[in-house]
Amino acid sequence: MTLEAVINVDLDGPRINRHVYGHFAEHLGRCIYGGFYVGEDSGVPNRAGIRLDVVEALRDLDIPNLRWPGGCFADEYHWRDGIGPRDERPVMINTHWGNVEENNHFGTHEFMTLCELLGAEPYISGNVGSGTVREMSEWVEYLTRDGDSPMARLRKANGRDQPWPVRFWGLGNEAWGCGGNMTAEHYAQEARRYGTYCRDYGDNKLYKIAAGANSDDYAWTETLMKQVGHLGCQHIRSTGYHALSVHYYTITGPTWEEKGSATVFDTGEYYTTMAAAARIEEILAGHAAVMDCYDPTRSVGLVLDEWGTWFDVARGTNPGFLYQQNTLRDALVASVHFDVFHRHADRLVMANIAQTVNVLQAMILTDPDTKAMVLTPTYHVFRMNRGHQDATSLRVDFRTPLPSRPVGDATLTTISVSASRKDGRLLVSLSNLDASAPADVEIDLRGGAVDEVEALILTSEAIQDHNTPQAPSVVAPRPYDGVSVTGGRLRVRLPAHSFVTVSGSL
Ligand code: AHR
Repeated sequence: MTLEAVINVDLDGPRINRHVYGHFAEHLGRCIYGGFYVGEDSGVPNRAGIRLDVVEALRDLDIPNLRWPGGCFADEYHWRDGIGPRDERPVMINTHWGNVEENNHFGTHEFMTLCELLGAEPYISGNVGSGTVREMSEWVEYLTRDGDSPMARLRKANGRDQPWPVRFWGLGNEAWGCGGNMTAEHYAQEARRYGTYCRDYGDNKLYKIAAGANSDDYAWTETLMKQVGHLGCQHIRSTGYHALSVHYYTITGPTWEEKGSATVFDTGEYYTTMAAAARIEEILAGHAAVMDCYDPTRSVGLVLDEWGTWFDVARGTNPGFLYQQNTLRDALVASVHFDVFHRHADRLVMANIAQTVNVLQAMILTDPDTKAMVLTPTYHVFRMNRGHQDATSLRVDFRTPLPSRPVGDATLTTISVSASRKDGRLLVSLSNLDASAPADVEIDLRGGAVDEVEALILTSEAIQDHNTPQAPSVVAPRPYDGVSVTGGRLRVRLPAHSFVTVSGSL
């Protein structure tokens, strides 16, 4: 049976903020050290110690922003430890992640250089949990203040004359847990207090993001929204926060200690993972509904600044380093998330996958011995979907029921589609989550003809397939000929467990 859908290609919709394709780099395991940063003396080609192969791969994704330095690490990070001559920087213990020593060689200047090399906007998470208002306020001054001031002088003494443009500013992280174990009421007050002293200097305008809810904790969101409402949205710019975050990880397994292997799983576990991933629709819709009650004009943004799969660490690796492989299953988790992001473009202003290199659902894995870099299946979804960045989100309406299957108490819909229009081009993304059955989709494109159609497919023989330094292209996009357009109808054959993108000029 062919599944029938309609896309009105000429209608307007919300803009898909390019920042929903954002990234996250924490001082955790081998994300920063070995992943992004190898030091100037490394044999790996680098600029100022930053790996150029990693930079080039991420530039190819049009990476819009990078969140740093955490995560949980952000709330024990003291920025002054990470400036000045490297050999004079104090060493600390990274108590959250493996109890390893952190030498602070990658600090503010290194991060801002990385962002410049990437062409990405920085998103800095300030320390609320163990920091002070003064410390955060001075970090903003150090980074962004032009002219003469104590922090601007310190920055200049450390070799940087011009202030950096910094827009995205996080007021702590997971304040309900590792960021201070606060109640929502207490944190909302703290966020307002910290936000008050994070100043706008010159033309630099901060976009302050309050540390939001865990998963479906809608009460947390409501408490933060009440505070915004109390101040009145027009006052947010000077005193409060402009956006709230939420974290949602795709986690399965009976207990936290048994989340399941990233590579060794059966079809049942595959479907359980996909059902957990698909819950992102309910999570975003739930938080958006609460926000609508207090902010019907949608001036406060929702930021999903941590998302992705979280499996057991790879055998033989440090449990505190959260290193996991990445299979075709992860790619489909990502493609489903993006469809949901596109549908919620009117509220979701940013999302950051956790994490970019060597941690959790990574884009890039680097070998600790050979230093070789591997692009993961998830990387390829980001690349195939990059045309959605800043595009107009288009509705996709199905006229026929979609295939689904029961997974535990949930029902998993196994076809997921989203579409957008930008610069006279249509981009349609289609995922078939069924592990064994293909599907045929026919889309009635109304309001414009499409030609010069190009299609790519990401699939592999097995859902467990993944890339390694020895076999780096097992799961990689390939040109796809299972697509045709005639008389305004786009027909796509979707093999089992596949992700397809179709683009064409309008
Ligand atoms: O991404 C790993 C960790 O997950 C982050 O540090 C924390 O914010 C979350 O619990």
